[in-house]
Amino acid sequence: MTNTVFLLFGATGDLARRKLYPAIYSLYRERKLGDRFAVIGLARRPRTNDQFREDVLESIKEFARYNVTRDEQWESFAEHFEYMSLDINDVEGFKELSRATQRLDKKFDVGGNRLFYLALAPELFGNVSHNLKAGGLLETSGWTRLVIEKPFGYDLPSAEKLNAEIREVFEEQDVYRIDHYLGKEMVQNINVLRFANAIFEPLWNNKYISNIQITLSETVGVEERGGYYDHSGALRDMGQNHMLQMLAMMAMEPPSRLSPEDIRDEKVKVFRSLRWFQDSAEVRANTVRGQYTAGNMKGKQVPGYRQEESVDQQSTTETYFAARVFVDNFRWAGVPFYIRTGKRLPVKTTEVVVEFKNVPNNVYLSKKHKLEPNLLVFRVNPMEGIYFKMNAKQPGSDGAIVPVAMDFCQSCQVGLNTPEAYERLLHDAARGDSTYFTRWDEVALAWQYVDKIAAAWREDSDNLHSYPAGTWGPEAAQQLLAEDGFRWWPVNGQDEGEVTWEFTQR
Ligand code: BG6
Repeated sequence: MTNTVFLLFGATGDLARRKLYPAIYSLYRERKLGDRFAVIGLARRPRTNDQFREDVLESIKEFARYNVTRDEQWESFAEHFEYMSLDINDVEGFKELSRATQRLDKKFDVGGNRLFYLALAPELFGNVSHNLKAGGLLETSGWTRLVIEKPFGYDLPSAEKLNAEIREVFEEQDVYRIDHYLGKEMVQNINVLRFANAIFEPLWNNKYISNIQITLSETVGVEERGGYYDHSGALRDMGQNHMLQMLAMMAMEPPSRLSPEDIRDEKVKVFRSLRWFQDSAEVRANTVRGQYTAGNMKGKQVPGYRQEESVDQQSTTETYFAARVFVDNFRWAGVPFYIRTGKRLPVKTTEVVVEFKNVPNNVYLSKKHKLEPNLLVFRVNPMEGIYFKMNAKQPGSDGAIVPVAMDFCQSCQVGLNTPEAYERLLHDAARGDSTYFTRWDEVALAWQYVDKIAAAWREDSDNLHSYPAGTWGPEAAQQLLAEDGFRWWPVNGQDEGEVTWEFTQR
């Protein structure tokens, strides 16, 4: 049931503008939302309903997948939007909000459901939750759900505190913690590909897989987020959440049922099996951290991290990190998971590469040729697809063997018009499907893992490498794999000279 009043805190902010209004509009256009909904935009600055609807229109024009014109359809959509200026410390304001919510509920026949979306700084989550209760907004005949954005804390103690504040008001099952990577089409496809194809499961273990590589590379610097980022760094900004979540999706056991709790239980088991680093020597041996200096990105000179706005000129915050992670269970014992992420790298891409063990080297073909291992690659972002790399005879040659790729390019099939992560996640939250939201125990375990690394890095301050913007990060990250006899596979396309077979959907 998606009938709901969306109460959107942070309605004039960037997230609302870029992601949330366009997502609501797409859901409406695709008839996933129906007509029994209302959106109340909440922020401090004064705005009339008309001004607010104008802002929403502009954001949809700029960022939505669907074109919008100021016609009848737009008018009937915009009618569902209202704005209220609110001081989040003022309980009286929340009481007024409660009355406005009831009025809109009645007008659009919503039936009592409330979805509170906090696109706000996490320090405010506790206060807002309390005032929602004090203002009477939770006294309703329908459901009430809280959707919150990352960062969920700075470390385990701060996350625990935040969680305790929220849980004084909301039950765990009503808290929807967003990790927008879990809303991405290809991240959700990991489970489908693994569990809906009989050929993969028998191979999905340490007997056949030599290593797994997860790369989240970005070309952007810290942009205008220097203030937040300098306090956070790559490990907290991407590692604790997106990267460990993707790792869990790759490593988890098949769930006994497809219910959100069963799926999340399996992810928790992966987090519990992570091999924790015992001391700073282990952290040093298994992680690499770096910070970008000035460099050249596609012919354009860009400043170094320490010259970015709102960044401390002596900052030792990492803008890059790589790690070798082990999942100590029967399936994965001995298989390294290499993860890396960084800002100001040469391309924007998210890819997961599964490298299979090579054929035994005393078998006749591998005696004569240097065979490349098979790779299964999930291309998550911005291009979506899957490709599989194998060895084949070069046509017309005298037995030469070349790597070829079977490439299923999903973006080529559906265009770049696949639903945005936020569309899926908003829709899921409104219909009560929490599968792709992070449960508290996952968040807590991920912090525990990351806190060990952060603590060792603090002690070991000379471990920060630098890398020029526009390069693939510190050389030490190449070494990390070379020590094990591996290398990072090139991302964003195939190696040169490779033959590609395209797959078309039937
Ligand atoms: C966010 C991080 O969670 O993810 C950003 O805070 C990062 O620093 C972003 O740029 C990347 O998301 P995407 O979807 O563009 O890969």
